[in-house]
Amino acid sequence: MIKKGIILAGGKGTRMSPLTKAVNKQLLPIYDKPLIYYPLSILMLAKIKDILIIVNEGQLDQYKKLIPNGKNLGINITFKEQDKPRGLPDAFIIGDSFIKNDNVAMILGDNFFYGQNLTKLLLECSKIKSGAKIILHSVQNPELFGVAKINNRNKKILKIVEKPKNFVSNLAITGLYFFDNNVIEYAKKLKPSKRGELEIIDLLKQYKNKNKLYAESIGRGGAWLDTGSISDYYKTSAFVQAVENRQGLKIACLEEISLFNGWIGKKEILNQISFYGNCEYSSYLRKLLKTK
Ligand code: DAU
Repeated sequence: MIKKGIILAGGKGTRMSPLTKAVNKQLLPIYDKPLIYYPLSILMLAKIKDILIIVNEGQLDQYKKLIPNGKNLGINITFKEQDKPRGLPDAFIIGDSFIKNDNVAMILGDNFFYGQNLTKLLLECSKIKSGAKIILHSVQNPELFGVAKINNRNKKILKIVEKPKNFVSNLAITGLYFFDNNVIEYAKKLKPSKRGELEIIDLLKQYKNKNKLYAESIGRGGAWLDTGSISDYYKTSAFVQAVENRQGLKIACLEEISLFNGWIGKKEILNQISFYGNCEYSSYLRKLLKTK
C-alpha cells in the first residue's frame, strides 16, 4: 500500500486574482472549510499518513496557522516551498528526500472528489507496486484538461494529451495520481515545455511508453470538480453546501476521517475543538464525540 502522499498546493492562482493576491488559493473557503481540507481528506481516505504539502515560497506561515502539525489529525505533515510554478512534476524533485525509496500518491491542491465508492477506489489504487495509475472522469469540456483515450474493451490507454485543441476523448485525467518510485528519476529527466514548465503529461508518457500506465474511472455516481476558475470554485462550494445541509454530514472533515481510521481519539478531537474555537465546525466535532 502507498504510504506517502504529496499535495501540490502552490501556484499563483492568477485566474482567481484578486482573491488570491494576499491568500493562497488552497486556503480560501469551499463552503465551510479551506479548500486544502478536501485534497487532504482524499489522501487520508486512502489511508496515507505521511503527507508533504508543497506551498509557494513565502506562504508557509499561512498554512502553518491552519495546520501547525498533523498530530491532532493523526498524520505526519511536512511542508516544503516551491520558489515558482515549475510544473506539476516538480513536486517529485522537491519531494525527493520525502519520498525516499517509497511509492507515492500526488493530488493537486485545487481538486475536489466526492462519490459513493471513492474510498474503495482509492484503496485499490494505492495498492500499485509498479507503474503509475491515473483517475479518469468524464467531462463536457475536455479541452481544459489532460485527457486519455482508452480502449473500452480492455481499458488499455491508447493516447494521452494535455489540453487538446481537437477532440480526443471526453475522459479528463484528474489531478490524483499514484506512482512507483521511478517517478523521481523520470521527473528529473524532463525538460520544460514551450510554456517553460515541466509537464505532467510528459511524465505520464514515460510510463505509457513502457506499458506501465494504468487507469481507473470515477463512475457516473462520483463527482470530480476542478476549482481552477472563480465560477468552478463557487459551483464546488454550492455542491458541498447542498450535500452537507441535506445529510447533516460533512464532506472532508479531517478529524472524522482520522477517528474512523483509528488514528486519533477523544483527546485529539477536544484539542482540535479548542484550536478552532466556538464555531459550527467545532459543534460538528462535539456531536461526533457523542455518537462515537
Ligand atoms: O485538474 C486536473 C488537471 O490539472 C489535469 O487534467 C491536467 O492534466 C494538469 O496539467 C492540471 O492542469 P491545470 O491547468 O489545472 O494545472 P494548474 O497549472 O492549474 O495547476 C494545478 C494545481 O497545482 C494548482 O492548485 C496550482 C498547483 N501548482 C501548479 C503548478 C504548475 C503548483 O503548486 N505548482 C506548479 O508548479
